[in-house]
Amino acid sequence: MFLLKRRSMFVKIILLFLIVLLLSTLSHFLVVQKVQRKLLRDQARSIARQIILTRQWIAGLGGVWSKDGYNKEMGFLTTYLADKSEDRKDTIFYLHNPALATREISALADLKFGYTFRVVSDMARELSNTPDPFEERAIQEIKGGQLAFVDGVEEGMYRYTEPLFVKQGCLKCHGDLEKDVKEPMKSILINKYGTKAFGYKIGDVRGIISIKIPQTDWMTMVTSVLSYWNLLILVASLLIFILFSKYLIVNPIRNLTDAAVQLSQGKIDLDLGLDLDRDAKSKDEIVQLAIAFERLRTSIRILLTKFAKTKRK
Ligand code: HEC
Repeated sequence: MFLLKRRSMFVKIILLFLIVLLLSTLSHFLVVQKVQRKLLRDQARSIARQIILTRQWIAGLGGVWSKDGYNKEMGFLTTYLADKSEDRKDTIFYLHNPALATREISALADLKFGYTFRVVSDMARELSNTPDPFEERAIQEIKGGQLAFVDGVEEGMYRYTEPLFVKQGCLKCHGDLEKDVKEPMKSILINKYGTKAFGYKIGDVRGIISIKIPQTDWMTMVTSVLSYWNLLILVASLLIFILFSKYLIVNPIRNLTDAAVQLSQGKIDLDLGLDLDRDAKSKDEIVQLAIAFERLRTSIRILLTKFAKTKRK
């Protein structure tokens, strides 16, 4: 503050402009950040909707069958030989349960595509469906607080998770072993995974769907929303600010200061360029100051004339 006191009015005003500019940039930045989060959340949510619908459709059908082939890396739940006659031995069907189908679809989505997703559970039958630390926390939070979603940012990735609830169609593979799970599915599942992940009831959280979307860094984000127009508007507002403060504030004060200096040196006949009739009504404090100064000057002149007259006598 002390350093500022010695600067000219013009410097102070420009500094004020810069401070206001900085604060408004900061506020804009916060808005952009919030908008970005909302866009990411909306995007993730609609991806989740689509996957949940697809899974529900598959679960409703009891899984989908592929004929004569399956993805070697992903495997299959069980097989079915359609025609046992000698010449048709090769017609084999492979069962894809919802989680397997989800894994197969998610292998197609990658970051180049814009996102990745997977389904994980705290009670995972399949090793690759084990949650990472973020997903583990999300499962706890979703179960503990009955949350509709949990999201966050980790290592430049926007992460979104949503619960997968057990519906009627899920019971034939995840329900009560005695009541809901029937043969031959029962033996198929137990042979492959043991008695893991049974005993769920409708409405239980079976796991979560976990979506990752790369989050653009703030520099890219800011430059992507800025255009030459913003630069033009910035230059124009700086120009308006400079002209405004120069012609309406700084120059009138400078003129008054000059006048005061001249008056102090005895130069009484100076013209402030005022039109008293018109300017008296002005609400501008500087004009009012100039009028007061003008009156002061007139009073001094009257005094000086009287003084000269008495001297002559
Ligand atoms: C046809 C049987 C079947 C049906 C129906 C089924 N699942 Fe599964 N589910 C499985 C099998 C088998 C796995 C083992 C993991 C894998 O294949 O990826 C699994 C795995 C999962 C997983 C991943 C965690 C893990 O154990 O590896 C979740 C979550 C899941 N299922 C939820 C559901 C939900 C929710 C439904 C109903 C919408 C459902 N499943 C319907 C058979 C089924």
